[in-house]
Amino acid sequence: MNRAWKGLLKSGIIFLTLSLFVYMFYHIDFLEFQRTPNPPFKNTRGSSDPGSNRNSCTFRPLSPEEIDEENTLLDSIAWPNTPSVPPPVSLNDTTNAARSNFVILPRPGGGSWLVGDQLEVMIKMFDFKGRPKNHGGDFLLVRLHNRTLEAGVAGQVVDHLNGTYSAVFLLPWEGKSQVEVTLVHPSEAIPFLQRFAGEKPNGVDFYSTFQSGSLNEITMCSVCLPPTQQPQCNYTDLNTGELWFCYKPQNLSCDARIKHFHVKQKLPKAKEDVLFENGVTMNIGIPASGPAHVTVFPKMKGQLATDSNKDIPGPAGYYYKGLWSSLSGSTVKRFNSASAISQCLKDKVVHMYGDSTVRQWLEFLSSELSDLKVYNLYNLKKPGPYVALDYAKNIFVTFRCHGLPLRMGYLPVTELHYIANELDAVTGGKNTVVVFGVWAHFNTFPIKYYIRRLMSIRKAVVRLLARAPDTRIIIRTANLKQSSTPYSVLFSDWPSLQRDKILRTMFKGMDVYFVDAWEMTVAHYLKHDIHPPRPIIKNMIDVVLSYICP
Ligand SMILES: *[C@@H]1O[C@H](CO)[C@@H](O)[C@H](O)[C@H]1NC(C)=O
Ligand SMILES: *[C@@H]1O[C@H](CO)[C@@H](O)[C@H](O)[C@H]1NC(C)=O
Ligand SMILES: *[C@@H]1O[C@H](CO)[C@@H](O)[C@H](O)[C@H]1NC(C)=O
Ligand SMILES: *[C@@H]1O[C@H](CO)[C@@H](O)[C@H](O)[C@H]1NC(C)=O
Ligand SMILES: *[C@@H]1O[C@H](CO)[C@@H](O)[C@H](O)[C@H]1NC(C)=O
Repeated sequence: MNRAWKGLLKSGIIFLTLSLFVYMFYHIDFLEFQRTPNPPFKNTRGSSDPGSNRNSCTFRPLSPEEIDEENTLLDSIAWPNTPSVPPPVSLNDTTNAARSNFVILPRPGGGSWLVGDQLEVMIKMFDFKGRPKNHGGDFLLVRLHNRTLEAGVAGQVVDHLNGTYSAVFLLPWEGKSQVEVTLVHPSEAIPFLQRFAGEKPNGVDFYSTFQSGSLNEITMCSVCLPPTQQPQCNYTDLNTGELWFCYKPQNLSCDARIKHFHVKQKLPKAKEDVLFENGVTMNIGIPASGPAHVTVFPKMKGQLATDSNKDIPGPAGYYYKGLWSSLSGSTVKRFNSASAISQCLKDKVVHMYGDSTVRQWLEFLSSELSDLKVYNLYNLKKPGPYVALDYAKNIFVTFRCHGLPLRMGYLPVTELHYIANELDAVTGGKNTVVVFGVWAHFNTFPIKYYIRRLMSIRKAVVRLLARAPDTRIIIRTANLKQSSTPYSVLFSDWPSLQRDKILRTMFKGMDVYFVDAWEMTVAHYLKHDIHPPRPIIKNMIDVVLSYICP
């Protein structure tokens, strides 16, 4: 490169950095809610350069055992029928929910449906030209519910890979209920979601500010930084091995990094957008051909439920009269008053780590318990950290965000703590409760990054349980968040589903307790929201407190 070009490039970078800084200065408060009208770096859709940016992601190296586990995990979430080359986008061949249908199969052995039976529904898919589909891979959600009874249960979907699906439901309550089948994404949309997650640009960019004296600079950061002429700063965490990089500022050292923030980009229109139209190709109900309801009768003495398919896992629980009951062994008790809640939490230390969906639990406790004084240490509403204390009852609760990657405001890098490091500082014991939830902020990153994060957290959980086996460890799973915002991996439930499966598999069989936020949002009648509404949070808190005070 000749000198003149270098000079031009340099002033270009300086100009970009300065305009970004000025932009940030005026818009910083809105970053969480607004997309930038002018992305500071040129943004293209991944489709023009398939997979090219994925190569710039750096992953922590794994041991041979970890590689085996990773391969097993990746196999377990392999999605059927998603060719590696994206299919041509044509609605003609795409699953059309409106032309598809489902039928409730008759009860095996005849007679009326009884409480405890397993109900089976056959779903047949058709495309926009009305032809039956002959391959699987559609993402479906199914539930059985009755709005008046505030009753609901999630069903399990089996993909027969030939354009038909079975949905299986347990019938936990008596009365009349509706079967509801929703196409979340047609199979044709999945390859775009797969390619989109982890590619740069993926709709969200991360930055750091660097400062020393009167010098300020902003550079882009990630684990997926496209290589450029600019050197990079390496922020690898030595204990966990977690990676993070920023482009090195021109005039400041890597040590001068002080703040972290993100910018959501407005994505340009693309031809695949037709696959992501709410109510047309995405998040749309499939009609019944025939009745969509069943009437369930109480089981009389001597009557047997239908044989249930043992290969299909039952639901985690169900709602009845708005209250969640567990079907996986543990009884959910109701903590309906401040005194019931604080009685359970008396003499307890509760450490919460995660994203805003975990913070909602602290917010719920704080709204219910007037004696719980909550301190937001640096006045950073979203990331915290928060400390809450009921001095008389000896209740101590903390909340801390899960560290990078984090789509949260403008926070000091000193507050970016990885959960594994925090857990290594917890003494634990029978009065200690650890709660964590990690998923949403990983949806724009490759799944391998998420697997490594869970591996490091799991190692810390194993260490904690080894030194203090009585510690209660509670894991919050992902939830549905269906949004009316068009095409973005940020608003799709599919990446959450994939990460949720990984989370459950990786902690299976350990001495940990799950709050099944996924089913608790599938089964509920309220609209899906990344931050589930209060009636769902109330039920989650009942589950949490039932684990702490069985
Ligand atoms: C879709 O179907 C229409 C009508 O049959 C046809 O004109 C069009 O060429 C088809 N498009 C593709 C991409 O196959
Ligand atoms: C699809 O596969 C299922 C399960 O093997 C079978 O019951 C069904 O008849 C098949 N449907 C079609 C249309 O081939
Ligand atoms: C819900 O249950 C009530 C009371 O049993 C019943 O009257 C109503 O028809 C049911 N609604 C649906 C949609 O099944
Ligand atoms: C980053 O730092 C870690 C720890 O010092 C080191 O192992 C790793 O090789 C470095 N990565 C790069 C890309 O420089
Ligand atoms: C770095 O310092 C040089 C020389 O003082 C200055 O011209 C340039 O604007 C600085 N770069 C940035 C990004 O602040």
